[in-house]
Amino acid sequence: MSATEFDPKAFRRALGNFATGVTVITATTPDGQQTGVTANSFNSVSLDPALVLWSIMKTSGSVEIFEKASHFAVNVLAADQINLSNHFARPSDDKFANIDYEKGFGDAPLLPECAARFQCENYQRIDGGDHWILIGKVVAFDDVGRAPLLYHGGAYSAVIPHAGVKPKQSEASESGQQKNEQRLNNNLYYQMIQAVKRYQASYQPLQLATGLRTIEARMILTLNDFGSLGATELEQRIGMADQDLHAALETLQRKQWIAIETTEGASDGEETLSLTDAGKDQAETLWKVANDRQQEVFGQFSEEELATFHKVLNAVK
Ligand SMILES: Cc1cc2nc3c(=O)[nH]c(=O)nc-3n(C[C@H](O)[C@H](O)[C@H](O)COP(=O)(O)O)c2cc1C
Repeated sequence: MSATEFDPKAFRRALGNFATGVTVITATTPDGQQTGVTANSFNSVSLDPALVLWSIMKTSGSVEIFEKASHFAVNVLAADQINLSNHFARPSDDKFANIDYEKGFGDAPLLPECAARFQCENYQRIDGGDHWILIGKVVAFDDVGRAPLLYHGGAYSAVIPHAGVKPKQSEASESGQQKNEQRLNNNLYYQMIQAVKRYQASYQPLQLATGLRTIEARMILTLNDFGSLGATELEQRIGMADQDLHAALETLQRKQWIAIETTEGASDGEETLSLTDAGKDQAETLWKVANDRQQEVFGQFSEEELATFHKVLNAVK
């Protein structure tokens, strides 16, 4: 087989356009060793029989546990479970210290407050290059329906419901259409979502035109506000996973926008990150893009109207 010709980092980045949910997949061996791995490779396969799959890196320290266990459990994370996602994305000798869980089939740990959980018995293992593809037969599930945590472009994200496509006039009864629109126009949640979506649709291309992904832009703006931050603190402030933090840092360092120093005397080699002068210029460019867009959208309102808008937003957020 010929070697892959393209840059693996660029490939990974391109794959990041495909938005996914985030799961923690857990298992326990017959002699009681347990693990959990954050995974976004989870997907459904078949309804009859009920099959799901995910893939695990062959080099993962958890491969052996999944091999020996009879079952695995898929915990589909909810939007407020970023800490759990980051926790189970790091290698650790005891991943369940200080973590709440109950035991399911094959003693696979089940996490509370998830959006959904699927308990599976091992069905098939397929060689998938540098990953093993693990297929499970679902033997039980919980469908809680909490808002899910999403993962897109190397960053955590949340769902904004889509309003749907307006039916053609000929397809909708006129009075029904009017009643529907009136009710939606009176619903502030619906109005806020519509406004955010329109703002995002017009703002995002401008931000992407600076050559930065949303996550990289957020990193630059955060460092610009705080002066310098340790890698862990930056990761927590932005709410992103370790592996993506490093990929984004590499990009920004290559562009010479970020300087990384190993903190003096720090035994764990914690790195301190700060913006270079060119990075600070980039932050100003990003703020200019944001402010120009804000002016275009909100410039039509008086100071008094905007003050009321701020007051309402601050009170409800
Ligand atoms: C959002 C996200 C998704 C991930 N998806 C996968 C995945 O599908 N498969 C995988 O093997 N690792 C994935 N990882 C990385 C693993 O979580 C991480 O390497 C692993 O849990 C480290 O622990 P281990 O030493 O037990 O392997 C993902 C990490 C994050 C943050």
